[in-house]
Amino acid sequence: MSRTALILLGPPGAGKGTQGRRLSAEFSVPSISTGDILREAVRNGTELGRQAKQHMDSGGLVPDALVDAIVRERLAREDCRTGFILDGYPRTVSQAEFLQREYAGEGMKFLAVGVQVKDGALVRRLTGRRSCPGCGKIYHIDASPSRNGDRCDECGTALVQRRDDTVAVVQERLQVYHQSTRPLIEYYQSRGAYAEVSGEGAVEDIYAALRSIVEPHLPERRPRA
Ligand code: AP5
Repeated sequence: MSRTALILLGPPGAGKGTQGRRLSAEFSVPSISTGDILREAVRNGTELGRQAKQHMDSGGLVPDALVDAIVRERLAREDCRTGFILDGYPRTVSQAEFLQREYAGEGMKFLAVGVQVKDGALVRRLTGRRSCPGCGKIYHIDASPSRNGDRCDECGTALVQRRDDTVAVVQERLQVYHQSTRPLIEYYQSRGAYAEVSGEGAVEDIYAALRSIVEPHLPERRPRA
């Protein structure tokens, strides 16, 4: 059966998580964030978390082999059967080649959508981000604060600031993005599998632009209750 891997490609803070969660809620597909999986491993003190932590804290990339193994395990689950969204993977040409090698023969189609935001806006977005470790909802202290103060307005869990959202680490993450991840735009463009939206402006407007691109490629929407 053919299924689509929708790849959200963009710099740190572009809104991949924000938009991926929305798409996932509207369409019957999971949004898989390698960053979330790695942060959970760090919180739980697993061997994977131990190996990933130093890279994440400094703003560098976790080694390809570790991340590829996470993705292989996650994509084998039943909820990925009809399609899925990847947020934060692939991030290097080597990871993109892994995806291609492992899954292209299984009738999987790839569509990468770049969410573009100028570097200047990203530092402000990331240093003001707060997220819910309970349900994963993403906030910004100015642009989209919780109605419940420093607790999540959906599940009541205390919000946290990510360790890698300091100015110095964000700058390193941006540099790593330009060096290692941005080349993936050309990688997918050359395969006729790339589209782009502006990630600047209102979250709703960006979502509308994104949805119009991805709708023909994702499974039918869940019927409204
Ligand atoms: P990861 O968790 O993937 O972080 P990232 O790619 O740097 O992206 P972010 O999660 O920071 O940003 P986002 O684009 O999701 O933005 P968000 O929606 O939250 O990776 C973290 C680390 O894990 C990496 O540095 C690396 O070490 C490791 N890692 C992960 N995957 C890896 C891989 N494949 N290979 C190797 N290592 C890997 O929005 C950000 C903020 O902006 C929020 O506050 C939000 O409310 C706000 N916002 C969103 N949209 C708007 C808007 N339109 N206007 C104003 N504010 C907005």
